[in-house]
Amino acid sequence: MLHDRDRIFTNLYGAHDWRLAGARARGDWDGTAAILARGREAIIEDMKASGLRGRGGAGFPTGMKWSFMPKQSDGRPAYLVINADESEPGTCKDRDIMRHDPHKLVEGALIASFAMGAHASYIYIRGEFYNEHLNLQAAIDEAYEAGLIGRNACGSGWDFDLYLHRGAGAYICGEETALLESLEGKKGMPRMKPPFPAAVGLYGCPTTVNNVESIAVAPTILRRGPAWFSALGRPKNAGTKIFCISGHVNKPCNVEEELGIPLRELIERYAGGVRGGWDNLLAVIPGGSSVPLLPKDICDTVLMDFDSLRDVKSGLGTAAVIVMDKSTDVIRAIARLAKFYKHESCGQCTPCREGTGWMMRVMNRMVEGRAEPEEIDVLEQVTRQVEGHTICALGDAAAWPIQGLIRHFRPVIEARIAEYKRRAGDPRPTYPMAAE
Ligand SMILES: Cc1cc2nc3c(=O)[nH]c(=O)nc-3n(C[C@H](O)[C@H](O)[C@H](O)COP(=O)(O)O)c2cc1C
Ligand code: SF4
Repeated sequence: MLHDRDRIFTNLYGAHDWRLAGARARGDWDGTAAILARGREAIIEDMKASGLRGRGGAGFPTGMKWSFMPKQSDGRPAYLVINADESEPGTCKDRDIMRHDPHKLVEGALIASFAMGAHASYIYIRGEFYNEHLNLQAAIDEAYEAGLIGRNACGSGWDFDLYLHRGAGAYICGEETALLESLEGKKGMPRMKPPFPAAVGLYGCPTTVNNVESIAVAPTILRRGPAWFSALGRPKNAGTKIFCISGHVNKPCNVEEELGIPLRELIERYAGGVRGGWDNLLAVIPGGSSVPLLPKDICDTVLMDFDSLRDVKSGLGTAAVIVMDKSTDVIRAIARLAKFYKHESCGQCTPCREGTGWMMRVMNRMVEGRAEPEEIDVLEQVTRQVEGHTICALGDAAAWPIQGLIRHFRPVIEARIAEYKRRAGDPRPTYPMAAE
């Protein structure tokens, strides 16, 4: 269990003052100039040594990502872009950072930008986060007024500007290249990589895109030292993480805990347990809607970190834990996600554009049982044809929940189909596939 002394987000629940005075009282902006005085290389080395992996979903090592930025400018400016689009269903952690602890993000933006040679940083915040953007802008304004950012930030000699940009509420604009397009005023559509943003990013310049949480934890890591952070969690899965627990639990909540905490402990200690008790658990989606669900027998023992969840063919993703008890129609739940991905596909890759709609329509029939048993395999094969065959990972995100459903709940789908046939009283095929 995480000790209070190791908590980074000490105002996660908004119980205290989020403004500059309150943030300073909690230790933010303490010795920032001294951190910058260590120099770019030393900061990046410390971030690498901390073992921090990106909190935006993919878990890419943050220090290594920062090291990809050019050491010497070729004349083009460099940018840090902070991803505050937070649209993954079940995820609501960046929101609480921005409304309750915004100075952590502002200070992190300065330090990370300095480490990457960027004099300017943009925060791209999802449009629906209206109140959050007000708090964050107020924190940015306070930091300017106090000389913490702007010209000669913190007296470090480094000039730094921070801009807040509101998106219009599209899930796809959270994908980093779509986000950059949108920031430039264009339609938010992903583009092929390479070139990666570190080479060709915002306005064609070297850019790093990081999640809000990844940036907000950096100042504390650098103040307390990489050894402190890497001692928390598990090997290769270092540090603390904000988990968002929702669904059929008694007390849905966000909580910061060590990576590697058992899923069961997380739910029972912080979320008041599963509605009706642990034995009433059906399944958990452990990392936001994109990752495959896990049935109860795996949830009994699985640990909440990148590698443990990958080993059970799921993922930590954004650490948004969606709990489903036995009252859940699990086929309907996954069909609803299929509808979401179909709606959010930007449409430029054929497998994603056609596949998401196809998968949604078949899933809708599976909910009723209006399908043939053989179609379960067809559906699985189609998910394989979408996965890995698209420009961005939305295709994977659409495929994985369905794969998880078939992997763990095939008998439930089969029973639904058999029940439909029994009620129809007709042994013949219930649905002509060609008409689909
Ligand atoms: C469809 C899609 C949506 C995404 N949405 C978000 C998002 O809302 N927030 C986020 O931080 N990353 C999102 N990502 C991941 C970003 O592309 C990128 O990997 C991330 O911002 C990198 O930050 P990190 O290295 O700090 O984890 C999304 C990716 C995809 C494919
Ligand atoms: S995978 Fe889907 S969302 Fe991503 S670029 Fe292709 S069509 Fe657009």
